[in-house]
Amino acid sequence: MSTNSEYIGFSENNTKFGNNVYKFRLTNQLKSLYTTIRDVNTSNKDFIFYNNRLIRLLIEEALNILPVNEQKILTPLNEPFNGFKNSVGNTNIVGVSIIRAGESMEFEMRNVIPDCKIGKVLIQRNEETFQPQLFYSKFPEYDQEDYVFLLDPALATGGSVMMALDCLIKQGYKEEKIIFVNILSCPEGLDIVTKTYPNIKILTGYIDEYLNEKKYIVPGLGDFGDRYFT
Ligand code: URA
Repeated sequence: MSTNSEYIGFSENNTKFGNNVYKFRLTNQLKSLYTTIRDVNTSNKDFIFYNNRLIRLLIEEALNILPVNEQKILTPLNEPFNGFKNSVGNTNIVGVSIIRAGESMEFEMRNVIPDCKIGKVLIQRNEETFQPQLFYSKFPEYDQEDYVFLLDPALATGGSVMMALDCLIKQGYKEEKIIFVNILSCPEGLDIVTKTYPNIKILTGYIDEYLNEKKYIVPGLGDFGDRYFT
């Protein structure tokens, strides 16, 4: 068995936050999708539709970060082909969504990885102190082969995601096998999460400019959960 040691995907991982942070290379299509989801005039219906497209791309890209094995196959022409297959089985990929906004990412996760397992964690930030509080967590039974895609569309202060990471690690999941997948992030969140959990991987679609005093990402897209679920 040989696995690919070199990462080949459609994001770059040479950001100032280190090699464990992967950021989409902005193609014309991505530029257009991001403009639509940021636009205050985008309807809820379109917000859902265009975010689903982005989420699907993010899940596909998270799979690029996982290893593959060489595999020889035969084509219908009876010709041999030296190819590759994912070395991590679908049942060893666990999607863990941070309720509520993270649940928006489960649908495309199940579409791309049909037999994946799903876990959930409910963490809410206190709107006055901005401190996260854990209300509920339920993960599938831990298997040491498991990789986790931790799902939350926005990385803002990092408080919720770090609490979720803490729960996962206590359950046995290995930092180096966790990929935190988000649509939008900011330097403040990336900075604290990478310093606190240097071994996890973060796949982000877009790194915005900064976090405002109300802890919204700027220029951002507003409250993701409110726009996606209402
Ligand atoms: N969560 C959101 O939905 N948007 C932000 O800007 C920050 C956190």
